[in-house]
Amino acid sequence: MENIKWEELGFGYIRTDFNIRSTWKNGEWSTPRLTEDETVNIHMASTALHYGQTAFEGAKAFKGADGRIRLFRIEENAKRLQSSAEYLMMAVPPVELMVKMTEEVVRANARWVPPYGSGASLYIRPFLFGTGANVGVKPAEEYELIIFVTPVGPYFKAGFQPIRAIIDRDHDRAAPLGTGHIKAGGNYGASLLSGDICHKLGYQSAIYLDAAHKRYIDEAGAANFFGIKDNTYVTPKSHSVLPSITNMSLRDLAADLGLKVEERLVEYTELGTFEEAGACGTAAVISPIGEVYDPLEDKRYVYGGGTEAGPVSTKLYNLLRGIQLGDEPDTHGWVTFVDME
Ligand SMILES: Cc1ncc(COP(=O)(O)O)c(C=O)c1O
Repeated sequence: MENIKWEELGFGYIRTDFNIRSTWKNGEWSTPRLTEDETVNIHMASTALHYGQTAFEGAKAFKGADGRIRLFRIEENAKRLQSSAEYLMMAVPPVELMVKMTEEVVRANARWVPPYGSGASLYIRPFLFGTGANVGVKPAEEYELIIFVTPVGPYFKAGFQPIRAIIDRDHDRAAPLGTGHIKAGGNYGASLLSGDICHKLGYQSAIYLDAAHKRYIDEAGAANFFGIKDNTYVTPKSHSVLPSITNMSLRDLAADLGLKVEERLVEYTELGTFEEAGACGTAAVISPIGEVYDPLEDKRYVYGGGTEAGPVSTKLYNLLRGIQLGDEPDTHGWVTFVDME
């Protein structure tokens, strides 16, 4: 690992020293155990493999200028995993268990947390799935919660650059009363084809509309959408949108900056009224959207000339990144330190 060029890392899997696991069996979570084993040995009839009883989370750890390791709002990831578990009828891991396991696995892999200033971070991937033999369509009797970590590179290697997005009316990411509000593995399987088509057409992200009316914006790929206009931060409210922790944080920061915040239905025709648009999530914090193409109306909505991130998006991005890295005061209490014992 001595030779790792942190700045050049992409978003892929790199083996670290340990992952951590807890098993739910007979109504109890086992004491978390660190392991070097990268594989999982489960029964071929497990519900995770057949009926999609599997959900995951994504979070990051950062090293500050002071050398201390910081987790960003990890309790929110734990709460979201709980809501995924409840909907998929899986055992629900206590928030404290997931937070403790995250701290332990990050501490055990401390040498893999990229240095301050590299732009890289340690990606944290908790996941929960049903194990044990079960042929009928019913919940599993046993569950496994695993958290692995892997260093990932800076999202913006060539600066804070806008992406191009395309409205996809041919595929739905999630049904109106389905699983869009949770981080079910199946949602991502269902988005692969749409993502592939949009990349082949030369766009980095699909914009999904609500499945029932094809009228309101749901999400921007695997990220939430927001628009800025008239000193207002506007973001879609819908049952089929994943409650993004980044979006939740940006809404608070936008309010701190004196913007009005609106969480409501956003018609796609409103795209023409925004001064700035962006996709937000753990991966990039904000990907400014430079252009949205609507193939139905053969219309392009362009922001910042398609090449420049807007001033509000830039300010919000710098503020949130700054809090994650410890460069800005953590006024909302979002950071947890993982100190070496
Ligand atoms: C579908 C979807 N929407 C939004 C997000 C952003 O959520 P967060 O900010 O919690 O990473 C993600 C990524 O986690 C996602 O997969």
